[in-house]
Amino acid sequence: MAGIFATAPGKVILFGEHAVVYGHPAIAVPVSQVRAKALIMPIPENKPDEVYIEAPDIHLNSHLNQLPFKNPLRIVIEEVQNALRLSYLPPMKIRITSTIPVAAGLGSGAAVSVALARALSNFLGHPLPDETLCAIAFRAEHSYHGTPSGIDNTVITYNQPIFFQKEKPYQLLNVEKPFRILIGNTGIASPTGEVVAEVRRNREQNPEKYNSIFENISRIVYQAREFIEKGNVNELGPLLTENHKLLQEMGVSCHELDRLVETAIHTGALGAKLSGGGKGGNMIALATPERIPEITQALRDAGATLVIATEIR
Ligand code: MEV
Repeated sequence: MAGIFATAPGKVILFGEHAVVYGHPAIAVPVSQVRAKALIMPIPENKPDEVYIEAPDIHLNSHLNQLPFKNPLRIVIEEVQNALRLSYLPPMKIRITSTIPVAAGLGSGAAVSVALARALSNFLGHPLPDETLCAIAFRAEHSYHGTPSGIDNTVITYNQPIFFQKEKPYQLLNVEKPFRILIGNTGIASPTGEVVAEVRRNREQNPEKYNSIFENISRIVYQAREFIEKGNVNELGPLLTENHKLLQEMGVSCHELDRLVETAIHTGALGAKLSGGGKGGNMIALATPERIPEITQALRDAGATLVIATEIR
């Protein structure tokens, strides 16, 4: 029997990160230029439940049972097994690879979970519906970072632009007019969970300040949704920059992100902001097609380790 594989895209948050953890809305889009892949090969000569996992990108090579219970890959596999009510798994080797930078705000953890759950359920002959895959990836997200909003697993599972609010049904966004963004990586790994925990502590110290920042972000998100749905895409630029300023006030930016954001704006981007957890990872900039080469070069010159141009449609 040949191997079975599935892939899942990365993602960026256009507006609303962090506030979304506290029940405010946010907008996220998939990024198909970077992907996680799970390949599953049967090992018919082995015994049931002999499941090996290798993930060369994170130097992992292990028997499933040797992984800690809280390991997200183990959680995904056990959740798929439970969803399919299987008392044992056939012997197999699972290989996980990904081109999504880790701890960079691009959803690498959620993409691995979705690709793995999808590949495994296909391999077992019972493809699970997206709703179940999304719920499984959400459970694994808890072990990547304690209090996920659920936006990453949702946008990555459904692979479409979404308007998301915690514990509410997600809404697909109708992008009236396609637009392009550049994604620039600072190259600084910054685990989302740590930044989310820091925001939580700071908010406990100063609830008025943080709640007022979240309210302002919420207003931006609703306005951005309207612009996206009406095709007023250039108007999104100032909103991105305004959202970045609020993230700076929240304390989740850093010198390198600010430098890339300023560089993009000075080179003609319509607006820019950090994207994801912050304190490293990626920023995004809205650009007209003719400005893309120049802004890309300027971001590289300013230290971006990777620049991706993507169209949102
Ligand atoms: C992570 O992509 C976005 C955050 O808002 C965390 C979350 O929503 O779970 C920082």
